[in-house]
Amino acid sequence: MSKAVINPSLCTSCNICAEVCPGTFGEPSSDPGIPKLAPDFMCLDCGHCVAVCPTGAIAHRAFPAGTIRPVEDGGRVPTYEEVMSLLRTRRSVRVFRDRAVEKDVILKVLEGARFAPSATNTQSTEYVVVTDRGLLRQVAELTSAILSGSGGAGDPYAFVYGLIAEDMEKGRDPILRGAPALIVAHAFSRANYAGVNASVALQNAVLAASSLGLGTLWAGYVMSVCRRDERVPALLSIPDGHQVYGALALGYPKYEYRHWVERRPLRVTWL
Ligand SMILES: Cc1cc2nc3c(=O)[nH]c(=O)nc-3n(C[C@H](O)[C@H](O)[C@H](O)COP(=O)(O)O)c2cc1C
Repeated sequence: MSKAVINPSLCTSCNICAEVCPGTFGEPSSDPGIPKLAPDFMCLDCGHCVAVCPTGAIAHRAFPAGTIRPVEDGGRVPTYEEVMSLLRTRRSVRVFRDRAVEKDVILKVLEGARFAPSATNTQSTEYVVVTDRGLLRQVAELTSAILSGSGGAGDPYAFVYGLIAEDMEKGRDPILRGAPALIVAHAFSRANYAGVNASVALQNAVLAASSLGLGTLWAGYVMSVCRRDERVPALLSIPDGHQVYGALALGYPKYEYRHWVERRPLRVTWL
């Protein structure tokens, strides 16, 4: 049994669905002309079969009518130059305008994350979005306090944590840089590749944000304290059994980058 049912009157036996299906192994279908798709237990609900079928011959339980849409603009994708321009001009933003990010805009950013790949299509990543200024400040302050408490003798970062604490005391925010929004990615910690899935999804969010004129900053300090102290996850209402795998400060950038700079040359081994 497969969750996908092929309508024999529409199927042209091109077999592309079976070729692209991640769950098909072994012999082809014994039913001549009808491709063999993954059995129920191997089906990832990835939708490749329904998305690739040229004649719309496949009905899939996970994708009811109305959820399979034609690709826009005849499948045109941004050119390599356009993509590279986005990739080169995205920078970590550390100075934000005093302007809230509207909920519908944050949802557009997260819509980018929703379409990220995930191991075995688990789509394991969930999000907490903080826009409350008071709570953002609390997250930054608690992060700074935990960092200060963690820098024992010999910790090479103890000095930096001291500077961060000093800045916080002066009302500045070296943790979230005063961003008006924070997106926290979390997942059930035993999900397959939970951390990688979250990173990949958040990077999609970063690029979606850039395309909307927003700036992002990976909130590394918040991420690092979440790994070793329960207090910030508790403040963020992260559910039991879930772990924080990424955090992104988000807002409208105050400054525009008019140039892009070089990166280290590629280090590639060709075999
Ligand atoms: C996982 C991760 C954590 C980071 N954490 C911080 C951070 O806590 N504070 C910060 O100012 N920048 C942080 N950054 C930004 C890096 O410093 C930045 O990506 C790098 O300097 C390159 O600059 P660019 O992002 O503008 O290209 C982080 C980046 C990553 C990928």
